[in-house]
Amino acid sequence: MVSDVENIFYGVLQAILSNLLSLILASIAVIAFAYYVRDSLKIGSVDQKWVLVTGCDSGFGNLLAQQLDQQGFNVIATCMTEKGSADLKHVTSPRLKTVILNVTDSASIKNAEEFVRTEVGEQGLWGLVNNAGRSTPIGPTEWMHLDDFKKVLDVNLIGLIEVTLQFLPLVKKAQGRVINVASILGRLSLTGGGYCLSKWGVESFSDSLRRDMHHFGVKVSIIEPGFFKTAVTNLDLIEKDLRRLWNQLPAEVKDSYGEGYLEEYLKAQSFSMNILCSSDIAKVTRCMVHALTARHPRTRYSAGWDAKLFWIPLSYLPSFISDFTVGALLPLPKDN
Ligand SMILES: NC(=O)c1ccc[n+]([C@@H]2O[C@H](COP(=O)([O-])OP(=O)(O)OC[C@H]3O[C@@H](n4cnc5c(N)ncnc54)[C@H](OP(=O)(O)O)[C@@H]3O)[C@@H](O)[C@H]2O)c1
Repeated sequence: MVSDVENIFYGVLQAILSNLLSLILASIAVIAFAYYVRDSLKIGSVDQKWVLVTGCDSGFGNLLAQQLDQQGFNVIATCMTEKGSADLKHVTSPRLKTVILNVTDSASIKNAEEFVRTEVGEQGLWGLVNNAGRSTPIGPTEWMHLDDFKKVLDVNLIGLIEVTLQFLPLVKKAQGRVINVASILGRLSLTGGGYCLSKWGVESFSDSLRRDMHHFGVKVSIIEPGFFKTAVTNLDLIEKDLRRLWNQLPAEVKDSYGEGYLEEYLKAQSFSMNILCSSDIAKVTRCMVHALTARHPRTRYSAGWDAKLFWIPLSYLPSFISDFTVGALLPLPKDN
């Protein structure tokens, strides 16, 4: 009798559990499908929309400007040099306009804003893509002077903030989007210098901006690329700058690292960068295009498998694990 009751109890329990499991799996499938559909919805009439992209002489900005132009957007590409501007115009439609912009120069930003305001008229600016950036000097913190930090922060963070503040009224008018290019180095500090600091700053600035502008229909997205082959990761430039930093170190600091440290550091850096850097920069511009064309843009885009599967998960782990992993990529100083 007892065993009959037990059997019925376990039978009922098994039936409930298996139904519950099916229900959970079905709910996950429905949510995933709904997310996919929502994520795929697009905005219309791109030919009526203006997008400004900074840092278009090369890299992500250059490719993005070309792709948006092909899709029919009215693109205003900012370049640092006349040559960059002429080269870009050469491969795009007459619709694409360029303007010279140095994001560290307030007068240059004001001048670009006046140009854009005249171009966009009552439509306002649909997209502002803050892409311009630099990486060097990048290396051990102790090797830097304050100016080395400022050089990078001025472009990647202060410049980005000033450009955003200048163009925000035009973006607000269009109820448009701000897309800020951060990095996985804005989630995990892999090296010293101003670069990681600047990208953490971009993350924080973008989070505040998103919350503040949400009320006005302006959407803010952050792009977090992993490592890609562009001028920012150009090893020759990074190495040349590291040698400059090393050569100006006092003898006692050099001695604490050891005579051969710089060469070992460069070798380790070159080894990991050659493995990590992807040449498929379209992975990054696809995220930017989605942020500009999706009806519901995402808050964060991680571009590249290294970002998705390694760096961003690592950034959530306890510090002793990330310290160990990052430490394993570089040589030990002599006085360790
Ligand atoms: N490549 C990567 O692995 C990677 C990863 C994460 C994030 N990012 C970020 O992605 C963005 C684009 O970089 P990229 O990889 O495409 O490298 P890139 O080819 O060097 O592009 C950066 C662009 O910014 C311009 N720029 C530099 N200083 C400027 C200033 N003061 N005012 C205006 N423009 C300026 C550069 O012009 P010049 O060439 O004339 O200096 C260049 O056109 C940067 O914000 C970078 O930090 C890159």
